[in-house]
Amino acid sequence: MTAARPTTGILVRLKQETRPEHEAIETALGLIQSTLTHAAYRRTLERFYGFYRPLEVKLQATLGLTGHRFDLTERLKTPFLDADLHALGVEFPNLLPVCASLPVLTHEVNCFGCLYVLEGSTLGGQLISRHVRQAIGVTPETGGRFFHGYGDRTAQMWQHFRAAVTAFVVSPADQDAAVAAAKDTFQKLHRSTAAQGDSP
Ligand code: HEM
Repeated sequence: MTAARPTTGILVRLKQETRPEHEAIETALGLIQSTLTHAAYRRTLERFYGFYRPLEVKLQATLGLTGHRFDLTERLKTPFLDADLHALGVEFPNLLPVCASLPVLTHEVNCFGCLYVLEGSTLGGQLISRHVRQAIGVTPETGGRFFHGYGDRTAQMWQHFRAAVTAFVVSPADQDAAVAAAKDTFQKLHRSTAAQGDSP
């Protein structure tokens, strides 16, 4: 008997099933509002740093342990956040609080679900990058490297990532695990970055 094949591709499922989480975080972050301030932008980057720094260590550990061929090295974004925070006057970003409630990443498929969120954010990042430059005058060189991301290579990097997910996450059980990890990542990133009660 052949194993059951999913009727919907993993990329369609990831996009559709995390749409509410994407909309929620996009609204909560307020990064493309005309009222964005320099201080609010810096606070947001500090929180992203507190989430990405331990998360990327965890991702590398799981993918490294399983010997997976997907290479994260050129996709790591903690160095961009570190450079941005320095440019914005944070002398020791490595002393900032780190998030203790990270997504569960025990298997490779969890990692791919989580990476879907981190890699997909580079698409919206292009829009955010332009807005941050216009609204508060921050360029990739002066604190906007993280959202600038892969710049001109964004579409190409996204296509490569999509191909890797499609090749690796196939069975219905793996798809379910990847979608659950993507939702978990969105929700925990949201809680960690869009703190309530901020003044502008
Ligand atoms: C102000 C905040 C944001 C805006 C305006 C925004 C906007 C967008 C836009 C316009 C796209 C589609 C780009 C395209 O198809 O060419 C996109 C895709 C995506 N964004 Fe965001 N985004 C924001 C924040 C985030 C954040 C914080 C995350 C997660 C860390 C995220 C994750 C994703 C993902 C996973 C996709 C890919 C969807 C898919 O095609 O499967 N976004 N975003």
